[in-house]
Amino acid sequence: MKGKKSNRMIAALMSASMGIAAIPAIAPAAISAETSDASSKVVFSTDFEDGDVSAFTNRGENDTTVLSASDEAAVSGSTSMLASGRSKDWNGPAFRLDDKLKPYTEYYISAKIKGRYYTNATFSFQYTNSDGETKYSNLVQNLSGSDWMSVENVKVSFTDEMTDVFVYFEGGQDDIFIDDFVVTEAAQVEIEQDIPGLKDVFASDFKVGTALTPAALSSKPTMDIVEKHFSGSITAGNEMKPDAVLNQAACQAYFEETGDDTVPQISFSAAKPLLNYCQKNNIPVRVHTLVWHSQTPDWFFKEGYAADGEWVSKEKMLKRMENYIKAYFETLTELYPDIDFYACDVVNEAWTDGGAPRNPGEQGNGGSSNSAWVQVFGDNSFIEPAFTYARKYAPEGCKLYYNDYNEYMDGKLNAIVEMATDLKEKGLIDGIGMQSHLDARQSLDAAFPSVSMYNKALDKYCELGLDIQVTELDATTPENPTEADFKVQADYYKGIWDAIYAHKDNISAVVVWGVTDDGSWRAKQYPLLFDADYKAKPAFYSIVEGREVPTPEVKYGDADCDGN
Ligand code: XIL
Repeated sequence: MKGKKSNRMIAALMSASMGIAAIPAIAPAAISAETSDASSKVVFSTDFEDGDVSAFTNRGENDTTVLSASDEAAVSGSTSMLASGRSKDWNGPAFRLDDKLKPYTEYYISAKIKGRYYTNATFSFQYTNSDGETKYSNLVQNLSGSDWMSVENVKVSFTDEMTDVFVYFEGGQDDIFIDDFVVTEAAQVEIEQDIPGLKDVFASDFKVGTALTPAALSSKPTMDIVEKHFSGSITAGNEMKPDAVLNQAACQAYFEETGDDTVPQISFSAAKPLLNYCQKNNIPVRVHTLVWHSQTPDWFFKEGYAADGEWVSKEKMLKRMENYIKAYFETLTELYPDIDFYACDVVNEAWTDGGAPRNPGEQGNGGSSNSAWVQVFGDNSFIEPAFTYARKYAPEGCKLYYNDYNEYMDGKLNAIVEMATDLKEKGLIDGIGMQSHLDARQSLDAAFPSVSMYNKALDKYCELGLDIQVTELDATTPENPTEADFKVQADYYKGIWDAIYAHKDNISAVVVWGVTDDGSWRAKQYPLLFDADYKAKPAFYSIVEGREVPTPEVKYGDADCDGN
């Protein structure tokens, strides 16, 4: 760092991007140093030796932080930047990205940070979406120690729908020193074009899709993979779930204004960038999900929409449920009349592995397996009205699914089959969503479920005479996987995909839960088809091997319910 010129900025970047604004979208994954290879270039760098701190600001008019060059502490040279006068935890030095850097481009940020007495900081990201809402996320937490702490090659990117995009340091109220702040632009990655597109290989069989996170949207190579392989179907990873859609303040305001506390107020602002993308690219969307115990706020079930209120009665909850589902579909189709919302997970994960309803109770801070639906209804009798209302309000062509994980475990499988048989007789359900969060483990014998167990579950759901969608497919390796583990994963994926393929006449979509391993919700176990360098993994090749990209005339052999 020493001797390097300060504030070196690639001129072209100064002209800046900017655009309209919108939604959650960053790639907050810290990445290993070797990923930023020689082909990446430094676009901003300062060691503060020239005393210039003008590229940094505090965090707005309520932030009392004062920034100056200081020779009280330094990593390289004798000067660093001092952030003094901080009076709140969130006060801190900030660096704006969207007036200096390009959207849809990956950057790595490195810096050194030290507290005056002790370092206890967080490196964070913020932006304003197209609805004018400011969103925050933590990039690196627990920067704690008594000496200088390093932030190393933290990946950030943003879309052109985001404005006022900043990274910043926060935490505690003591003085903070920053040194050696470097922004590197990652080399542009071209994805592999000489491999077949998954969606094309299976074009005459079923839709092939993926789940998108807002972070993926700002990564060009990720979206190139989506376009090539997964543009048959998109599911929002989190942004269309109850906790993302229900707006507590608006619910309470409506209640206060009208005296009616049965008309929940909703917003799709979190999902907007994803839905904008799907609309622009004409990609069908799976709606995930309406009625779920998880990622659903407790206040939705409480008097006054207050987290500490009493539980509402079943009668009131039924009204809330109906009005919620009505508003959900009406708002969606009004905002996005051109998107094909072709499938909806009406109820998610209502049965335990043993085939019983969940325990009643709160979610609390999340992570609880208890269900507030069961709390209010006493049992799983909320399922039928959920499907009844979904049937009433879903747009034409939107098929209705019950969706679950461990869907191959006997107790749960039987409960789902029994429930679905009943709902089918009443004309309320169209299909079963098999989440398919699988574990390849270290050998095909150890894999869970075994391919044959999964195949049997497919048989059973097939016999129901309903459609099947594989809605969240991923298959984990052990942590710190070896090449051998990736080979096992490939063999396992092949077995599972062959089982799916054998039932293709009853399967309308296969959705992989994420694009690249590093963006997965189970990232430590590398469960997806593409790696963090956007390369197809052995698992990808095992699926497409031996198959042709069909032309309209090519038709594969028919399969029956036994997969023969
Ligand atoms: C997961 C998301 O991928 C995570 O980002 C989130 O933290 C938790 O939820 N079953 C489902 C999905 O139906 O909605 C879940 O998605 C994975 C399990």
